[in-house]
Amino acid sequence: MMAKKDCSIFVIFASLLAFWIAAAGACNAEGLKMKFYKESCPQAEKIVKEIIGSRVPSNPALPAKLLRMNYHDCFVMGCDASILLDAVNNTQAEKDALPNLSLSGFDVIDDIKTQIEQVCPNTVSCADILALAARDAVSFPFNRRLWKVPTGRRDGRISLASEVTKNLPSPFSNFTTLLELFNKKDLNLNDLVLLSGAHTIGLSHCGTFSRRLYNFTGKGDQDPSLDPTYAEFLKKKCSNPANPATTVEMDPQSALSFDKNYYQTVLENKGLFQSDAALLTNRQSAKIVRHLQISTSFIAKFANSMEKMGSIEVLTGNTGEIRKQCRFAN
Ligand code: HEM
Ligand SMILES: *[C@@H]1O[C@H](CO)[C@@H](O)[C@H](O)[C@H]1NC(C)=O
Ligand SMILES: *[C@@H]1O[C@H](CO)[C@@H](O)[C@H](O)[C@H]1NC(C)=O
Ligand SMILES: *[C@@H]1O[C@H](CO)[C@@H](O)[C@H](O)[C@H]1NC(C)=O
Ligand SMILES: *[C@@H]1O[C@H](CO)[C@@H](O)[C@H](O)[C@H]1NC(C)=O
Repeated sequence: MMAKKDCSIFVIFASLLAFWIAAAGACNAEGLKMKFYKESCPQAEKIVKEIIGSRVPSNPALPAKLLRMNYHDCFVMGCDASILLDAVNNTQAEKDALPNLSLSGFDVIDDIKTQIEQVCPNTVSCADILALAARDAVSFPFNRRLWKVPTGRRDGRISLASEVTKNLPSPFSNFTTLLELFNKKDLNLNDLVLLSGAHTIGLSHCGTFSRRLYNFTGKGDQDPSLDPTYAEFLKKKCSNPANPATTVEMDPQSALSFDKNYYQTVLENKGLFQSDAALLTNRQSAKIVRHLQISTSFIAKFANSMEKMGSIEVLTGNTGEIRKQCRFAN
C-alpha cells in the first residue's frame, strides 16, 4: 500500500507541475519489471537458479519451505524480505511469531545472497532473491519456470511479530475472514482459491488442526466437515498433538508433487485446515474448487495469482534499501 500511495501522491503533485506524463511512466506496474537486473547484475537470476538446483535434489522439502516463506513475506508488510530479518533489540521479528512452525530455508537464501554480493555488491535485493528462489524451487522438477517473477523489489527495514497475526490468515479462519485478509492485499476470491492450492505441497504440524480432531467446539467433539475415516488416520498420527516433531502431509497422495490434487483432497473433505475446508462453504469458491479439480490449467492460473501476490505493497525506486545481508537491515 505504502509504495502505491506514495506513487499516487507523486502523480498528483507532478501533474500540478505539468510533468504528469513522465510521472505516470515512472510509476506504472508498481515499479517491477522483467529482468530488472539485466544491466546491473546480469548473473543474478542464473545464480539463484543454480543454487536452488543444487539444493532441491537432496532436500525435496525445500520448495514448500521457500513457497511458504515467500507467501508469509508478502502478506506481512509487503514483499520486502521482512520475513528474513532477525530480531533486533528486544522486539520479536516476523520469524518469531507463532505461525513460524514451518519456516526454514533461511540458510539457502543467505548462500544465494553471499554469492550474488560477490559478483555485484549492493545491487540485488533480498526480496527479489526470495521471490526468485521460491519460484525456481517449485519449478525445479518441471524444468521450466512455472511463473514470472518481475523484479525491482527493495528491502524493508522493519520486521515485527505483531504484524503477523493481523495480516496472515490462521488455519482456523472461516471463509469471510480469509477473503477479507486476501482482499486487503488486493487479491480476490479467485486468487484465494488458487493460492490455497499451494497446499498441494508440504507439511503441517498437528497443532494447526488437532482441534478439529479432539475438541472442535470445546465439547470433546470432532469437526463434522472433516471426513471421519481421515480423522481417525490423523488421530493416530497426532496422538500427541503438541509434539513438534510430528508432521502430516497436507496433500497425502502427492505431497512433493506440485499439482491440482489439493482440490481433490478438499472435495473429499480431507482438507487439513479449517481454512482449506472453508473453501467449500461459499458457493462461488466451491464452484472454483470443483472446476480446478478437473481443470488442465491449474498451474497457469496459479502462476497468474502468484504474480499478483509477488507485487503486494512492494518497495521500489528509492524506497527501502538493498540489504548487504538478508538477516539484518543495513
Ligand atoms: C489461505 C490461507 C492460508 C492459511 C490459513 C495457511 C496456513 C498454513 C499452515 C497452518 C501451514 C502449516 C504450518 C505448520 O504447521 O508447519 C501451512 C503450510 C504451508 N503453506 Fe499455507 N496457508 C495459507 C495460504 C498459503 C499460501 C497463499 C501459500 C503460498 C502461495 C501457502 C503455502 C504453504 C506451503 C508451501 C506450506 C507447507 C510448508 C512446509 O512444508 O514446510 N499457504 N499453511
Ligand atoms: C535497536 O536499539 C538501538 C540501540 O538502542 C537503536 O539505535 C536502534 O534504533 C534499535 N533498532 C530498532 C529497529 O528498533
Ligand atoms: C519461531 O519462533 C520461536 C519463538 O520466538 C523462536 O524461538 C524460533 O527460533 C522461531 N523459528 C524460526 C524457524 O525462526
Ligand atoms: C468468521 O470468523 C470471524 C472471526 O473469528 C467471526 O467474527 C465471524 O462471525 C465468522 N463468520 C462466520 C460467518 O462464521
Ligand atoms: C476443550 O475445550 C474446552 C473449551 O475451550 C476446554 O475447556 C477444555 O479443557 C478442552 N478439552 C481438552 C481435552 O483440551
